[in-house]
Amino acid sequence: MRRREFLSTTLAVAAAGWGPRSARASNGLVEILIDEPIGTIAPELQGHFTEHIGEVVYNGIWVGENSTIPNVGGIRKALVDRMRQLHAPVIRWPGGCFADSYNWRDGVGPRTARPVRTNFWDNDPQLCQAPDGPQKYDPNTFGTAEFMRFCQLCGAQPYVAANVRSLTPHDFDEWVEYCNSPAGSTTLAQLRAGDGSRDPFNVHYWGIGNESWGCGGDFRPEEYAVEFRRFTSWVPDYGQKLGFIGSGPGAEASDPQVSWTRGFLESLVGRSAHLFDRLYGFSIHYYCGTTGKGDSLEYTADEWYEMLGQADVMDRLVAQHWMAMGDYDKERKAKLVVDEWGAWHRTTPLGPAYLFNYVPSLRDALVTALTLDIFNRHAEKLAMCNVAQLVNNINTLFLTMDDRFVATTVFHVFDMYKSHQGGRSLRVVCDAPEISYGAGKRLWGIAGSASMHGNSLVVTVVNPHASEPRVADIALRGGEAKSAQVTVLTAPDIHAHNDFDHPESVAPKTEPASVSGASLTWTFPPASVTKLEIEMA
Ligand code: AHR
Repeated sequence: MRRREFLSTTLAVAAAGWGPRSARASNGLVEILIDEPIGTIAPELQGHFTEHIGEVVYNGIWVGENSTIPNVGGIRKALVDRMRQLHAPVIRWPGGCFADSYNWRDGVGPRTARPVRTNFWDNDPQLCQAPDGPQKYDPNTFGTAEFMRFCQLCGAQPYVAANVRSLTPHDFDEWVEYCNSPAGSTTLAQLRAGDGSRDPFNVHYWGIGNESWGCGGDFRPEEYAVEFRRFTSWVPDYGQKLGFIGSGPGAEASDPQVSWTRGFLESLVGRSAHLFDRLYGFSIHYYCGTTGKGDSLEYTADEWYEMLGQADVMDRLVAQHWMAMGDYDKERKAKLVVDEWGAWHRTTPLGPAYLFNYVPSLRDALVTALTLDIFNRHAEKLAMCNVAQLVNNINTLFLTMDDRFVATTVFHVFDMYKSHQGGRSLRVVCDAPEISYGAGKRLWGIAGSASMHGNSLVVTVVNPHASEPRVADIALRGGEAKSAQVTVLTAPDIHAHNDFDHPESVAPKTEPASVSGASLTWTFPPASVTKLEIEMA
């Protein structure tokens, strides 16, 4: 049956379906092709990113052992608890641009003896106005062992970014040695033991620089390929397979920067096709933002759609860079990594030392949801994705100030989408009238992703319409539903957000849904993210 025919005949079936049925005729379809698996959704697609920038590390993560703020060995306890709730799979550190200025040796050994260094972001015009503090002059209290401890507490894997711009491959080798050499084996292993960890950290993911086309060294792609080869050549692995991640372009909606990807890979393969064995992943960055960076909480309906449309560009960026990779990496040894992504609005800081900080809203929740759906739909191409950043920065999951801590709208989407982790991504075909906005612009009317976990199906759906519900038929091709529960994240106002004074303004609601058969009808509220967890018959 063709899709349009299905739409016109399905209402009779839907009358026996589940959920809050609507008197309106359905004008949307979410078709889940259970027999068309795409690939496993690596839990790492829901990864995180932390940088020594503004109030991310100091205040956000690290409050110090003597703080009155509840902490675990100096690490903010409320953050750890929420990260455990998310099943946070991986955390990237120490940057970002900061990574290519960082000497890891500054952050090891007794904390009181560590040097104080000028932070990479010190010249930021906003930070210049802030009083002196760890955001400007980094005391290195939070170093490698503290980051590893944070990861362990969260149950996440570490992903460490090396300094390619201002340190050498030898320094990199020794950082690997500090992290991974066996207990008691080397001087650096002993230093690590003194920092509280006799056992190796067994770090698998290593980023070879960050944004090497910019703050990471102003390289041309072919120059960076030489650095990548040097940094990954004969690195001692101590029995721990090392997953090197090459630094790729900062993609833009108007220019995906595929030429960087091609330039780098051509240089790599030009030396030897075997070098793809060294490339675990190749990273791109993509931030979406309204023209001129608009306010995070004040926007028109058109600006709402504009932002969602910009976020949707991720879909073609992943496809374009993956296609380019395939021209060189014939055996598909390397996967794509999106290790910085998110909506980036105008800074509206909680204080002068907070960089690139604002309060995310329901709009950012939808940006996050539709992006995670895109990642799920490209599960076979992607090894890892890291939202920028975890706390107090850009597309943040949390805001902190002293002892105050709030989970943003973005957190709730991650919490909903954790059910996809490790599942088998299924092909989903969505169909609904497009939304027109601005001067002749268009956005799809409904989109989502699905994954199978044994006998359980997880479906997530975004209705981007700012004011209208979408009544859609959900067609399970190749299976039937037995029972379900539904979780919905939305709010009456598209500007809704959580902040310190209103921590629960936007929160998901879960309830059971009665289910029968393979064809169901659901009303997706305006401006919403919906998750259906379906037990199959
Ligand atoms: O996430 C903030 C900054 O954005 C990172 O340091 C850099 O990699 C990117 O340009």
